[in-house]
Amino acid sequence: MDTKKVAVIVGSLRKESFNRKVANEFIRLAPKSLELEIVEIKDLPFFSEDIENDPPQVWIDFKTKIAAADAILFVSPEYNRTIPGVLKNAMEIGARPPKQNSWKGKPGAVATVSPGLIGGLGANQTIREAAVSLNIPMMQQPEAYIGQIKDKLLEDGVTVNEKTEKFLKDFLEVFEKWVMQITK
Ligand SMILES: Cc1cc2nc3c(=O)[nH]c(=O)nc-3n(C[C@H](O)[C@H](O)[C@H](O)COP(=O)(O)O)c2cc1C
Repeated sequence: MDTKKVAVIVGSLRKESFNRKVANEFIRLAPKSLELEIVEIKDLPFFSEDIENDPPQVWIDFKTKIAAADAILFVSPEYNRTIPGVLKNAMEIGARPPKQNSWKGKPGAVATVSPGLIGGLGANQTIREAAVSLNIPMMQQPEAYIGQIKDKLLEDGVTVNEKTEKFLKDFLEVFEKWVMQITK
């Protein structure tokens, strides 16, 4: 079977991040044809055009990992109705310098996770907006606004409940089709 590599970008640096927990659940539940791996963004220095033509090694390593992936899955919190700065920074680094957009053409999807009711709707939409410029064709449906996450985790604090597990699996099933369609 054809296996596709999926770079998972987690928009939170928090140790006990709910988004990282859900990203790990995506990894656990992924179909065999999708090999999901978190690509870390925590050590990326702030983007500046001044250094994009002589970038630090961590930028190069990050861009190499993104370029090597077949697809992208964003899993992010919402900060002040938009996306965390660390995620936006990673987007810029991946996209630059001109004509060296590492994200280009890779099928993508987004899930946003929040303890709040509306599940990071604003961040989810913002990621889709940025994806236009990053040239990431995004899966449109299903949308994944995973709100009230504390109620969706089991007592172990890392595993999602049955209903959420089904939701993540269904999401991954459509994403698999999307990835295969775009990369064929
Ligand atoms: C600076 C800041 C802004 C936040 N703004 C929002 C928001 O707009 N919408 C929301 O649902 N939660 C918001 N929150 C709460 C986060 O959803 C919550 O801290 C969540 O646990 C962060 O994701 P994580 O667990 O993956 O780190 C905000 C948190 C911080 C620290």
